Order: sequence, then structure tokens, then C-alpha cells
Amino acid sequence: MDRIAIVGGRRLNGQIPIGGAKNAALPLMVASLLSEAPLTLSNIPDLADIRTLKTILAQHGVSVTESGGALSLHAARIASTLAPYDLVRKMRASFLVIGPLLARCGEAVVSLPGGCAIGTRPVDLHLMGLEKLGAKIALEDGYVHAKAAGGLKGADIAFPTVSVGATENLLMAASLAKGTTRLVNAALEPEVSDLAECLVKMGAKISGIGTSTLTVEGVSTLGAANHSVVADRIEAGTYLMAAAMVGREVVLQGAEPAHLGAAIAAIRAAGAEVDTAKSQIRVRRGDQRLRAIDVTTEPFPGFPTDLQAQFMALMTLAEGTSHIHERIFENRFMHVPELGRMGAKIAVEGDTAIVAGVDSLHGAPVMATDLRASVSLVIAGLAAQGQTIINRVYHLDRGFERLEEKLSLCGADIRRLKE
Ligand code: EPZ
Repeated sequence: MDRIAIVGGRRLNGQIPIGGAKNAALPLMVASLLSEAPLTLSNIPDLADIRTLKTILAQHGVSVTESGGALSLHAARIASTLAPYDLVRKMRASFLVIGPLLARCGEAVVSLPGGCAIGTRPVDLHLMGLEKLGAKIALEDGYVHAKAAGGLKGADIAFPTVSVGATENLLMAASLAKGTTRLVNAALEPEVSDLAECLVKMGAKISGIGTSTLTVEGVSTLGAANHSVVADRIEAGTYLMAAAMVGREVVLQGAEPAHLGAAIAAIRAAGAEVDTAKSQIRVRRGDQRLRAIDVTTEPFPGFPTDLQAQFMALMTLAEGTSHIHERIFENRFMHVPELGRMGAKIAVEGDTAIVAGVDSLHGAPVMATDLRASVSLVIAGLAAQGQTIINRVYHLDRGFERLEEKLSLCGADIRRLKE
């Protein structure tokens, strides 16, 4: 298994290109199941999760071809409406196939994804919504058996809590349902809007995009479309934290500032300088120490849970004590003991991590536990004295494209140890 070695203490200077968002690309790829015509997606990041989803879609009958940097997904016919455990367990986002398969074929059998390292992550909201659209749902032997013999029918669906995945799943299903669906308390995340905009290009009738009520007038078929994936706000936010930690002047090219309002506000409050322009964020960090700032993770436009670990790494060296409240997932503090191995002082009480800033971190062997947790160790390693070795780097490869290259081009001493 590959490892990453970082020698800390180098200041970052330069430009970092931001790629297409993994969490937008995955549902967009799944949307190809809704149409007999090809869906061509550009700005797709080259990541392990994208490759996994290609395999999953191929077994449903989608032909996947790449040309000129774009991915063409063509589901002329659906070969199988079964999504087996071995594939779904690899990546929770593959549960999203249930809505499109059911809407197009009237049936789907999809493995329950199960819990994962960051929490129990049930799919009850996805199933509640599909039932409202008229599907009959049965749970058998770890699989969801969903049927809608006469097709799905539009309905009003109010989510008791905001769910990105359930909003995406039901948006796709409702696009091919008969009649009108209203999704109330829908997720506002930019990845949801990106999916909605692509569905509209395919012929779906969706209004309220970017608001918490999405109205979908079902159509009988969807057609071909070309779409470019929105910039990855979590990749950009991660480099924003890295730049605030050890940067002098770093420019994030291709980043969308409007998608990072809460993170930019937190960084500014901590004492780094952030300027924004169209598709660009510039971070400047002087020699003064950052201040400790409290943050609470919330659905968009609040502070994203996917940047919580990275922000915690930043706060380990801030002046004062930071309280970080995790309100989206119940077990998303696995980076705490690993940061502790590097000298951070963090106590966890319920859903709050209390980070007492220290003067310095020291390099150590540490273990990546999930995607965002592992990149928080990279940020800590960039600032630590001495060498940090990060084990289980496959977690990082799920969501960060050419991370070592992007950071070393800005002056970081970071390399991959191949095994
Ligand atoms: C998406 O997951 C992202 N994944 C996650 O990113 C991200 O952390 C999360 O949204 C929150 O922003 C993808 O887009 C592929 P949710 P998702 O449904 O859709 C609970 C990463 O690192 N819930 O919005 O699965 C759930 O347990 C990943 O890239 C239910 O109770 O998240 C959680 O507490 C990690 N029932 C909360 O809602 C349901 O049916 C929000 O989850 C669905 C969710």
C-alpha cells in the first residue's frame, strides 16, 4: 500500500488548479441511467471513486467511453437492475442508482450500503421519498427491492432533515415520474444544483434550482446532453486551509468563491487574508499566528462537514482554544487521535472537538481513516517539524487528484512512497 511522506516547514507559494467536484461528478454519472441517449461530461476528476462508479455503471449496461478529456456515458439499454453488495459497499454514492433504475425500468434491487467510518448513514429518506412516488419497497437479505409496475407518480415530499444524496436520488427519479413532484427542504449544496442543471439539459423540467423547494414536472423520456462538472469546493477549501496553515501567497485557480462563503469567513476571522475574483481565490498568510475560531458544520451554505477535519488541523496551531461542532455525522472525529500523535491537543466531548492551540506540531507516522480525515493529516504534516508518514493513502486517492504534485509545485516537500 502506498504511503505519503511529508517533511514539514516549507511555505507554499504559487497556483493550484482546482478540478471538477467528485461529489457532483458521481450523481451526474448516475444520471446517465435515465436516458437512452448519451450523456457527455467534461471536467471529470481522475479519482478512484470515479473509476469505481464506471465499473458499477458498466454492469448496469452503460457504455463508458473517454475522448478529449470528456466522459461519454451511454445507457442505450439497461442490462441489469441489480446493484450487488460487493459494488455498493465500495462506495455509498452508488446507492443513487436506485432512483434512476426504478424510474426508467419500474424495478431495482440495490444492496443497502451499510454504515461507514464516519457514521451510520441510513438511507431511510431515499426510501421514504421513493415510496411517496408510488414505489413498493421491501428489505430482504440486505437488499432494497423496489418496484413501480405502472411507473412512478409525482408527489409532495418534505424532508425532515436535509440530505444531499436523498435530494439527488429523488430529483432523478421524479424527472421521469408522471405528474408534478415537489421536494421541500431539499439540499442546497452546489452539487445538487449542478445535477439539476444537467437534468434540465437532458430535457427534465425542474424549477426552483438553488432553492430549498425543487419542483419537477415529470417527462416521459430524457435525451442527450453535454455538461461540465462544477469546480470541487472541497478540494478548493482543503487547499485554502493548507495555504492558511503554511502559505505565503497561494492562488486557487478555477475555484468558485460563492461555494465557499462559510470557509472563507472562518479563515478570514482566523487572520489569513483572502481575496476572491471570478473562478479564483487568493490566500495570503503573514508570519503572525492565526487566532482560534469556533465553527459548526451545517448543510450548505453553512460550514461543510467535508472541511471539518482540515479546519481542525489548522486550529491545532492557532492562538487560543477552538470549539468545532460536528452536526452532520456522528463519528467524524477519527483524525483526532492521529493529530494527537503529531502533538495536537484536542479533547472530544460529544459532537464537539475542543482544540487547544499548541506552538508546534512534530512529524509522526499516522494513519488515514477516511478521505477528508486523511487530508487533514497532510495539512498538519506540512506545518509539522520533521517527517510525517501517512499510511493507507488509498483513502486520499478516492477524492484528491494529483495531491502531491499540486502541493509540491507550490514548494511543499511531499512525495508518494510506492509499494
Ligand atoms: C454527501 O453524502 C457527500 N457525498 C458527503 O461527502 C458529505 O459529507 C455529505 O453529503 C454532507 O454534505 C457525496 O456527495 C457522494 P447526506 P450523503 O445524505 O449524501 C443523514 C466525502 O467525503 N441521513 O446529506 O450521503 C446522514 O446519516 C463525503 O466526499 C439520514 O439520516 O450525505 C447524515 O447524518 C463523505 N437518512 C445526514 O443525513 C438518509 O436517508 C446528511 O447526509 C440520508 C441521510
